[in-house]
Amino acid sequence: MASAPNISCPEASAPMSLRDAPALIERLWPAQKISVEAQKERKAVQGQTLVGLGSYWKGRKPLVLVRACVLGSLLPATEDPAEDLAVFEMLMRIDDSAFYHRDLKTKASQIAKLAFGVGASDVDQIRKAFSIRGWIGNESPADEEFLAALAGDRLVWRRDITDALREKITLAGLSKLPYIDRVGRSLRPEELDDDAFKSIWPRVNKHLGTTAKSLQELVEQLGIMRFGHRPRVADTFAGGGSIPFEAARLGCDVYASDLNPVACMLTWGATSFLASTDEEMERFDAGRNQIIRRLDERLLEQGVETSASGDRARIYLYCVEALDRATGWRIPLSSTWILHEGTRTVLVLNPEPEKKRFTFDVVIGADVETYAIAAAGTVRGGNVHYSDGSREVVSSLASIRGDQGKGRKVSNDLRLWSKTDVSPEEADIYGECLCCIKWVEKDTGREYFAPPTDHDLNTERALIGYVRENIAQWQSDGLVPDMPIEAGDETSRLPRERGWSYWHHLFNPRQLHMFAILRQEISKHPDDMVQSGMQLILAKALNRGSRLCQWQPHRAIAGHVFYNQALNTFFNYGTRAFSYFENIFGERFEGRFERVGKLSLKSAPAKNVDEVSDIYITDPPYADAVHYHEITEFFIAWLRRNQPDAFKSWQWDSRRPLAIKGDGEDFRKEMILAYRAMAEHMPDNGMQIVMFTHQSGSVWADMAQIFWGAGLRVQSVWYIATETTSELKKGGYVQGTMILALRKLVQAESGYEDEIAQEVRTEVARQIDTLVGLNQQLKGAGRVENLFEDADLQMAGYAAALRVLTGYTRIDGRDMTVEAGRPRKKGEQGFVERIIDYAVQVANEHMVPTGLSPRLWQTLSGTDRFYLKMLDLEAAGLTKLDNYQNFARAFRVPDYSTLMADLRPNSARVKGAYDFKRRTGFEIPDFGNGVVRTVLYGIWELSTDADPAIVLQQLREMIENYYQRRADMIEIADYITAQRGRDDQKEGRHAAVLANLLRSEKL
Ligand SMILES: C[S@@+](CC[C@H](N)C(=O)[O-])C[C@H]1O[C@@H](n2cnc3c(N)ncnc32)[C@H](O)[C@@H]1O
Repeated sequence: MASAPNISCPEASAPMSLRDAPALIERLWPAQKISVEAQKERKAVQGQTLVGLGSYWKGRKPLVLVRACVLGSLLPATEDPAEDLAVFEMLMRIDDSAFYHRDLKTKASQIAKLAFGVGASDVDQIRKAFSIRGWIGNESPADEEFLAALAGDRLVWRRDITDALREKITLAGLSKLPYIDRVGRSLRPEELDDDAFKSIWPRVNKHLGTTAKSLQELVEQLGIMRFGHRPRVADTFAGGGSIPFEAARLGCDVYASDLNPVACMLTWGATSFLASTDEEMERFDAGRNQIIRRLDERLLEQGVETSASGDRARIYLYCVEALDRATGWRIPLSSTWILHEGTRTVLVLNPEPEKKRFTFDVVIGADVETYAIAAAGTVRGGNVHYSDGSREVVSSLASIRGDQGKGRKVSNDLRLWSKTDVSPEEADIYGECLCCIKWVEKDTGREYFAPPTDHDLNTERALIGYVRENIAQWQSDGLVPDMPIEAGDETSRLPRERGWSYWHHLFNPRQLHMFAILRQEISKHPDDMVQSGMQLILAKALNRGSRLCQWQPHRAIAGHVFYNQALNTFFNYGTRAFSYFENIFGERFEGRFERVGKLSLKSAPAKNVDEVSDIYITDPPYADAVHYHEITEFFIAWLRRNQPDAFKSWQWDSRRPLAIKGDGEDFRKEMILAYRAMAEHMPDNGMQIVMFTHQSGSVWADMAQIFWGAGLRVQSVWYIATETTSELKKGGYVQGTMILALRKLVQAESGYEDEIAQEVRTEVARQIDTLVGLNQQLKGAGRVENLFEDADLQMAGYAAALRVLTGYTRIDGRDMTVEAGRPRKKGEQGFVERIIDYAVQVANEHMVPTGLSPRLWQTLSGTDRFYLKMLDLEAAGLTKLDNYQNFARAFRVPDYSTLMADLRPNSARVKGAYDFKRRTGFEIPDFGNGVVRTVLYGIWELSTDADPAIVLQQLREMIENYYQRRADMIEIADYITAQRGRDDQKEGRHAAVLANLLRSEKL
């Protein structure tokens, strides 16, 4: 986004004119398109705007999603939903016409093909817009030449084409592509400049009665119309700062807080540091250079990274050296000794029997045998393999460590390191050795690997000695960590696997030394802005400068600690020297913007919010998807002392006891307190948007209780697929986020369960009918894809239940706000769960796939319904596993995986007749003995050329009340024919044969 304009209060936007207007997100929101955009942003990985501040932070919400929430809360839902939607999509630049600006990749020849189609009849139009690449000669080409060039991808835009015609043809062409394909080849909306928005303002302003010429102006005007001032957006679980950043970038005033000081620092980076003026940035750059140069000078003076010949180190490779007490040998441990796969550079271990130790050689271009030995490593499975020069020895790691006990109770003989330890002691079971160094040749810049020489080993010993001598002083000066490692889900393994008990043990003497100097230089700098920005850089460097940075032979580099959210220990790791860090220290920060609104940033628990905001957009922790409080201690241990003024007021510990954790009783209690405090600090016409990562079915009941207890009423729920394959957890697991829009519950109602159930039924039906109606209306108006898919309709069912429920404060005489805080027994199926289940059933009844009669639908089991519904979705090309998960949950399928032929996140598929074949699938509850399985059996049999009369006979025997269910079987066979396609050799064609056979059966 380009720089923000000066905003003046416009006449047209009368203050408070929208005070009570419902917000767009309460009524409609193009969740499908937003999902596609969110995934596009995720796929940019390191190119995502805020990742440059610290890639170690997990679970940042996509900025495009935040933008859609802010705009969706400010824009009104009017009497003209189609125009409301059009305006919203234009503002998001997810409308069709935006792709003229977003798509920079599709070539003229492809556009011509899409717009006109091969063998086009409209040659005149083609001639007006395109010329033929490489055409020579004065005569203009004949029509046939143009058609041949169209087919052969040889058309280019004419030089004299008008912008208007080019835009028209481009958009006509691109709109033929599915949305997901268009987005795939396009810029993200946030990458567009002001020009790309120019054309939208007349229509936007006409619809809204505004006079805006930029998003920031519009946001301010809508804020005035709703709240009487520029809108104030708050996030009390700010984390990596996505929500405050996007709100600030859109021109809102922002209140941001988080319990965790690392989150506060990243949010400060996103909202303050990135909003620095050019002059401030120049000042920062000058300061940063000064600090980095000073660090370089000091390292050079000490000679700790220099070889005997004056070459400078780039990276050091270390490994654990284990003492095999059975043999007295010390064995370097690693699962591979390959240094670089590309050049077949490996380390070769040489046994020295008299010392019972190994030395290393570097071999470049290793032969097959040497390479294979290196690739096998010394650690294989749980065993250590080595040769003592005369024989092969295998010892188990468990016996080397002296493991005792089982599971979590396991203990071993590893020594627990002390507060001033920086490296292992000579007698330790796990020692550490320097195996190899990558150098940069002084004169040529050539990089090469070499085993450590005597000079290098002496330097290493001297360095370790120096760090040992100074560690206590550095700790007392707050330059390096002195914080013990507290036990936890992620942290308990550190003492168990290495004997590490203080955070600085995760760094070797070389790393401690460099970071201590860096911190000294940072804290000496007189400019607070430089000091603060350097903390961000230091944290990034820590992530790349620890004993947890595994060596990666395919790229010959060291990894980073938080490539996932675990604190994994490795036997071999790389230590970057200054020359390697220089780039990281000097990295540019992307995503800078000019902030027009005010900012308030605090480190505080959410329940302590003490300022009023108009809109809360929050993404609270849920079910411990990420152990923020534990893993950030890695950074807190370093950053908590010698703070710049900007961070001093924050409490620099991870505040574990105050972190909202898990999904149990305490979680609910703390969440109620937090959301109640937010509701109390919000005007009556304020809004809340809550994002919930969708993980378990019980989340709905949890949410009902939390919002009841907080005095909030659910207005709508949307579902966004945010990850394709999750970055947080691996393995066929798709993550989605539910977006809930809530209002303060101003007028309380009381009612009775049966009344409420009725109301839920009406509300679910109304909601689904509205969405389906809007789909049809927009299709009629030329929209190619559905605005709402079944997943949205299903959410609408949950939303309707929550909306009705949270609208009552007394049910059957019970005060629900009090009831919400009551502890629930495990597995308790209370009234809330009953109503939610009921709503989902009502929603399912409404989602009869086209081609099936509602009558048949009512009679089918949940599993049958699931199967048939998924065929419908697959036919529409929707093959995401999370769809299957959601529907399985909704249709109460006990184990949907038994029905699946493919469980990959993006190409899931149910089994067909050809997968089940003759014998399988009959054991599946609610499916095996039903009509659907019987029909699939018939299809399979017919495909094997079985005698039709025998097939009919078998079907009669398989299904009870055959003659009553015959019509159902015909309907299902017809449905499968339609879904799988008449030409599908496997299913569709034989389903059609079966349908005819049943129809013509003589009764
Ligand atoms: C899911 S994350 C938020 C991620 C954020 N939306 C982003 O895009 O990066 C949840 C955050 O809640 C914070 N948190 C946990 N307990 C808290 C509490 N009691 N009060 C405030 N923040 C808390 C965690 O530190 C974490 O940063």
